[in-house]
Amino acid sequence: MALDKKTPGAAGVPQHIGIIMDGNGRWAKKRGLPRSAGHTAGAANFRTITRYASSIGVKYLTLYAFSTENWNRPAEEVSALMRLFRQYLEEALSDFMDENIRVRFLGDVSAFSPELQALIRRVEEESAVKDGMVLNLAMNYGGRAEITRAMRTLAARVESGALKPEEITEEMISGELYTAGQPDPDLIIRPSGEERLSNFLLWQSAYTEFAYFDILWPDFKPQHLDEAIEKFRSRNRRFGGV
Ligand code: FPP
Repeated sequence: MALDKKTPGAAGVPQHIGIIMDGNGRWAKKRGLPRSAGHTAGAANFRTITRYASSIGVKYLTLYAFSTENWNRPAEEVSALMRLFRQYLEEALSDFMDENIRVRFLGDVSAFSPELQALIRRVEEESAVKDGMVLNLAMNYGGRAEITRAMRTLAARVESGALKPEEITEEMISGELYTAGQPDPDLIIRPSGEERLSNFLLWQSAYTEFAYFDILWPDFKPQHLDEAIEKFRSRNRRFGGV
């Protein structure tokens, strides 16, 4: 059945999709280019796929742009990524705004340069009035760090006497994550041939369906997103039931 590309939240389109944008380095290597060229191609694709997801009615799109472990890459590669973040966030301000996209950030953004942090705040503030798709950019994000941060907040409440340990619920923990108030992802897509979660949305992905692609992120096209959605639609999600 063809996807309804017009109606927001169209039947069969998952409400929340996560994507691990992997394979930029290998894409560049295959072409004899520096890794940073792969990230440039990956960033251009980030824009294409975001706009496409919004056009087919995805409500939440979460993209893994920079993990807490990515700081361990060569300094030159990290600074190329930071440059791309600045460039694309500037562009996102005008581009995504026209498409009614609200941008949120998941992760500890305090580790970024003051300039990038100011841009992140501006994008969040200026897009807060938009009521179309929510684009979550996971930057300096790690699922374990996110859960640890939530535990610390709840532990502080217990310490102050405001909360008893036995009163802690799963909903309370969800409410302390960066994704508080958002539905859990229905589908997580990973291009590049790797089949692992790599510390992405650990708590939120308890019942998420996965789609892996043997394609590198810069080559991942809207048609592959359609394919992932078709696969998702053919699955029978039982959430632990029968
Ligand atoms: C993983 O590929 C990709 C990254 C660590 C960076 C992803 C970032 C972008 C696509 C830029 C997005 C821009 C914005 C503004 C959100 P890899 O380098 O690990 O690839 P490899 O496994 O082939 O080496």
